[in-house]
Amino acid sequence: MTRSALSPADRALSLYEALPYPNVPLSQSARNALGEMFKMSYTTAQYLRTHMLVPSEGKVMLNAGCGSGWETLMMAEANPGAQIVACDLSPASVKLTEERLRRHGFTDVQCYVLNVLELDRLGIQFDFISLNDVLYLLADPTEGLRAMKKVLKPEGIIRANLHSRRQRQVFLRLQEALQKVGQFDVPPAVGAKNVREFMGSLQEEVAKAVLWNPANYTEDAAILNNYLLANDKGFTIPEVFGMLQQAGLGFLSLVDMPDWSVESLFKQVPEFVRQRLETLSVMERLHLYELIRPAHRLIDFWAEHAGSSLVLPWTDADWLTGSVQFNPLLMDNTRFHQEYNKALQENRPYEMQWTGATHGRISIPAEKVRWLAPLLQGPTPVAELIQRVVELGSLTKEQATDEVLTFLTALEDFLFVMLQ
Ligand SMILES: C[S@@+](CC[C@H](N)C(=O)[O-])C[C@H]1O[C@@H](n2cnc3c(N)ncnc32)[C@H](O)[C@@H]1O
Repeated sequence: MTRSALSPADRALSLYEALPYPNVPLSQSARNALGEMFKMSYTTAQYLRTHMLVPSEGKVMLNAGCGSGWETLMMAEANPGAQIVACDLSPASVKLTEERLRRHGFTDVQCYVLNVLELDRLGIQFDFISLNDVLYLLADPTEGLRAMKKVLKPEGIIRANLHSRRQRQVFLRLQEALQKVGQFDVPPAVGAKNVREFMGSLQEEVAKAVLWNPANYTEDAAILNNYLLANDKGFTIPEVFGMLQQAGLGFLSLVDMPDWSVESLFKQVPEFVRQRLETLSVMERLHLYELIRPAHRLIDFWAEHAGSSLVLPWTDADWLTGSVQFNPLLMDNTRFHQEYNKALQENRPYEMQWTGATHGRISIPAEKVRWLAPLLQGPTPVAELIQRVVELGSLTKEQATDEVLTFLTALEDFLFVMLQ
């Protein structure tokens, strides 16, 4: 067997040098990847943090471990007018990022070959840092979090994620098994070929239990980023909270929080569970969820400097005197306008993928599509919406107020609308 002299870190770098990740055509725009853009929308995360609508214009943002620049492009498209900086250990990835961003008209993005552990060498402080699918590759992810905290402005936000140990367990186990049969020591192309042979030779029920579906692994990159990923590690919710604490960071939210509802796991929540849930912290509830249904590959979160924000819930009076608007990501999205208008004209419900909602989908009944139509033009006073609902239907002012506030509050929980 050919033994390679590569350390796990060098091996990871050689993978990304040979195959910058992800392999998305340079010409592809990220604008329709709204679900991903949501996670790196500064205005969205800052609204969650402070209830303030803070535009992205002029904010300084970092995409750390940018890979092939697909994430950087999403960051640029999700945050109009922001100053974008990107870095990666792999020179080939950085080059591709520069090219991708230039191709889409973002000509002033600064790109560096740099280890995320040395971010302070840039001498820049950031309003927003995103690093997707990077932290778990570091020997000590807490060090990575500390390095980011050092370059985060006092009001800044970090979006990062770690692999879930429970969801990822099959891959983590198979990585160990494939290590034992030498497949982390051979050149990547040989390893990918051997993994196909290994998996293809398993008994059918064994292959099924280890989630092997050859159709998903026709590209070597898919095998190398899963079954043969060097340095891959998984974590539990309490571990992630502990790491944030050690790094002096505060947990703001998971980026897909409504999709982690313990209640949603039950046909009917047993009374003793319901009672206990009321006493549990956010961390304990999320942990309970992952114990029952480890469905999410990533524990994907927004964080801030510990204790830097205190957000009070809106009162009914705030709602009644405020104006409401669609999330700026939606306002900026031509497809959203077209499809919402179509639902409006055809008098039917409006549905779309929306990471901030339960199961990543939002569904608005036809009647309520009409209620919200003025928001397509811009911020609308809530009082005007209530008046509109009275005029459109058979509700009294009091009933309309109740229904509109209940509905808007639910949409605001999903960061689909925002109040100012
Ligand atoms: C799975 S890719 C993710 C790319 C990108 N963030 C995305 O989600 O599309 C991981 C990237 O992290 C980079 N990386 C790994 N360790 C790093 C480190 N210590 N400093 C900078 N980049 C690193 C790799 O070179 C690779 O491009």
